[in-house]
Amino acid sequence: MQDDLDRILFHETTILSRLDELAAQVSKDYRDRELTVIAVLTGSLMFMADLLRRIPLPLKLDCLSVASYHGKAQTSGEVIFKQVAVPDVQDRHVLLLDDILDSGHTLAAIREKLETAKPRSIRVCVLLSKKKARARHVDADYVGFEIEDEFVVGYGLDFMERYRNLPSIGVLRKELIAQPQ
Ligand code: IMP
Ligand code: MG
Repeated sequence: MQDDLDRILFHETTILSRLDELAAQVSKDYRDRELTVIAVLTGSLMFMADLLRRIPLPLKLDCLSVASYHGKAQTSGEVIFKQVAVPDVQDRHVLLLDDILDSGHTLAAIREKLETAKPRSIRVCVLLSKKKARARHVDADYVGFEIEDEFVVGYGLDFMERYRNLPSIGVLRKELIAQPQ
């Protein structure tokens, strides 16, 4: 798997020390509020597990599963919810977690859907945010790292369901994206 990377962007130790900082910030901001975390699977799995274990607050956790890529390296713009029921977040302070903010379609669609359940507040926390013009505007309240507009894998992020178990985050070699197996 390592050989498929053009270069590594963030080693595991770098990711974890950034999560210490993010978790400290979230813990401070939510110290007097009851937090409900909604994580977007599958990409945010590692991020969710490592971040939440660093937040010493009582919280509720729910996961949402959506798809927008259909095995390609570019978003289709259509966000398909794999479950119909919206988590019960009425009157809750929601923190939405996702692996990466790219076009913005995914988080904008989830945010809109959660708003129908009348939460008290919604904030967005992403591990990575691509520096680019987005198709849909999304305010990310907590960002782990800003990256260039390149396709990255590892630490939960996949290309065609592979590379999620790489401990670090790296840029996938361009020729692999052009000609998937
Ligand atoms: P958006 O809807 O375009 O913002 O895309 C968000 C989703 O696309 C993320 O939750 C990821 O699952 C996936 N995604 C976007 N960029 C990348 C990338 O560089 N590598 C792997 N997955 C990505
Ligand atoms: Mg994904």
